[in-house]
Amino acid sequence: MESNKRPDGMARINTPELAQAFIDEQVAALRAQVGDRKVLLALSGGVDSSVVAALLIRAIGKQLVCVHVNHGLMRKGESEQVVEVFRNQLGANLIYVDAVDRFLTRLEGVSDPEQKRKVIGAEFIRVFEEEARKQEGIEFLAQGTIYPDIVESHGVKAHHNVGGLPDDLKFDLVEPLRLLYKDEVRQVGAALGLPDSMVYRQPFPGPGLGVRCLGAITRDRLNALRESDAILREEFDRAGLTSRVWQFFTVVPDMRSTGVRGGARVFDWPVIIRAVNTVDAMTATVPELPWALLHRVTDRVLSEVPGVCRVLYDLSPKPVGTIEWE
Ligand code: XMP
Repeated sequence: MESNKRPDGMARINTPELAQAFIDEQVAALRAQVGDRKVLLALSGGVDSSVVAALLIRAIGKQLVCVHVNHGLMRKGESEQVVEVFRNQLGANLIYVDAVDRFLTRLEGVSDPEQKRKVIGAEFIRVFEEEARKQEGIEFLAQGTIYPDIVESHGVKAHHNVGGLPDDLKFDLVEPLRLLYKDEVRQVGAALGLPDSMVYRQPFPGPGLGVRCLGAITRDRLNALRESDAILREEFDRAGLTSRVWQFFTVVPDMRSTGVRGGARVFDWPVIIRAVNTVDAMTATVPELPWALLHRVTDRVLSEVPGVCRVLYDLSPKPVGTIEWE
């Protein structure tokens, strides 16, 4: 059993050289642990699973089987980026599962936020299990567990992991990042050559856009959410604000309001902009965004996103308002 306690005096990985030394050491350790056997990994495209994937590809190449489940709740372009980076650029053995219809069908009419999370989590395990059963000779499951997950939850990764697999699918765990803090994981990811947009990705909830399309998810509101979120990210990039605001996204509530378009009255959705700064996500403040940026986002959302007639900026700090709306 490998240690889950960070040794006293373990140097903080804060330079490319230290990241490279960690990679060399882990590549050797992973080869020794895995030998010529196969490892399975659920690759969401988040920072932790992406860095684990890149590290394992470096160590064991095609003996790593990555499964990317597109549940339809990813941000615009994210699933495509996973395929581009891991399959096309790094040559990974990547199984892409288009489960969009399955998830959206299961979620039809489910409006309670906790129930939505449960449905998404349970369906994810079901899809992943089906893919795992199709693979022959897998002996290990890799996970992007990092040190705060261990400290905060006594070894059980709190978010988006693949816990809950049936007993006959219990694999030995491979957790090469388990002693690292988030900033160290990013250093390692950068040293492995992953793109900045992956390495410095802002936090994204496991249930994805599902908790930002409020109430029962519908495909048209989900589309409005994804498109408005993409516009917001583009305009933050253009304004040079992406690395200066901790988390920002849009929300689409399940209500309509009156608008007028082309001389006719419409009854369409609002889009809410949420942007926060925080250190630990326990409390958060709302940054004073440039007025010109807010106007540009508003103009673009109103002209480019079907079904939207208003844009609002949420000024609520946490507490009282949580960062996510659900
Ligand atoms: P709240 O909304 O509680 O969010 O202020 C704090 C941070 O946690 C993220 N978040 C989640 N992450 N699964 C996750 O993996 C979830 O269900 C979930 N809910 C919130 C949120 O994006 C923020 O960074």
